[in-house]
Amino acid sequence: MYTHIVGTGSAVPQRVITNDDLAKMVDTSDEWIFSHTGIRQRHVVGPEENASTLGCEAARRALEDAGISPEEIGTIIVTSTTPDYAVYPSTACIIQGMLGAKNAAAFDLAAACPGFVYGLTVAKGLMQIDNRPVLVISTEVMSRTINWSDRNTCCLFGDGAGAVVLKNSDQPGGLGFHLVGADGTGYLAIHREGGVRTEETAREKPGDLKMDGRSVFNFAVRSFCDIIAKSMEHYGWSEKDLTWIVPHQANVRIIDAAVKRINVPVEKFYVNIDRFANTSSASIPIALDEMAKKGLLRRGNRLIFAAFGAGLVYGGVAVEWTK
Ligand code: UT7
Repeated sequence: MYTHIVGTGSAVPQRVITNDDLAKMVDTSDEWIFSHTGIRQRHVVGPEENASTLGCEAARRALEDAGISPEEIGTIIVTSTTPDYAVYPSTACIIQGMLGAKNAAAFDLAAACPGFVYGLTVAKGLMQIDNRPVLVISTEVMSRTINWSDRNTCCLFGDGAGAVVLKNSDQPGGLGFHLVGADGTGYLAIHREGGVRTEETAREKPGDLKMDGRSVFNFAVRSFCDIIAKSMEHYGWSEKDLTWIVPHQANVRIIDAAVKRINVPVEKFYVNIDRFANTSSASIPIALDEMAKKGLLRRGNRLIFAAFGAGLVYGGVAVEWTK
């Protein structure tokens, strides 16, 4: 039994904030942001939008692309660092109701930016015991968690959602080698107060996103190199056998640093961070949907998804494109 991506979809808010817009709010410049990150602009939600509205739209588009009705879905997995409610109800349940996916189980999965890759991994395991299609939706409204007067973080993130429909079949290909891992000793490197950790945090309003950018950067480069090297080693692939690496879109300098350490040309990394910034767990499925819509994906293409993020966690999955 093989698990295939049979539909992709994405949705981003209409409103765009450029680096020049940000330079009117904090002491920064388009030159600094672009040269340090590769970002030019980000999409930001309006008052009526949130993780469930964006995620639902991305899911609808993925279902339409797959030619599958909401009733056929067996499970909905939502990954989000910015769910509608702090813990319950899950955003997956909210989207299940909005979609009318009445036969689907629904749950959220917390794995920060690698959430989509973790979601694919969990879905594939689940689909060994339940043969029905699964929706993996990654949806983020990062703009509501950042301090817009902190230049260290406000320029880095954007809002958006991406989704895929997974389906089992006997045809070889689809989701292949998976590598997921964590280094919990770095749990404070990216964090946001607001849980029930102490009396105070339980009663206070959630804080802003806090990040030690440099240590995350180093972890990210190590993670990318490890995921790519181990995936290629697993299949005995050389650089020529690989079509695309679809990395978590956090910073082009992380990609450049990884390229210096591994034998894969930078052209094989698909990058769209210039237009969307870092949309956390949504960044890979948004990129994947964009690649599909641009006609960049062909049957038999070999892809590696690679991500890292708060936890600290990392995750990679190799895919043979069969759509
Ligand atoms: O999804 C995972 C999320 N996180 C990441 O992927 C983050 C990974 N880390 C990074 O991408 C980079 O570390 C950053 C982009 C966050 C920062 O780049 P950096 O080259 O590591 O800069 P830095 O933090 O070392 O800061 C250098 C200087 C500092 O000034 P001083 O102390 O040297 O005077 C910062 O205050 O740049 C300053 N700075 C800025 N200047 C203008 C930081 N942000 C800005 C800004 N505009 N927006």
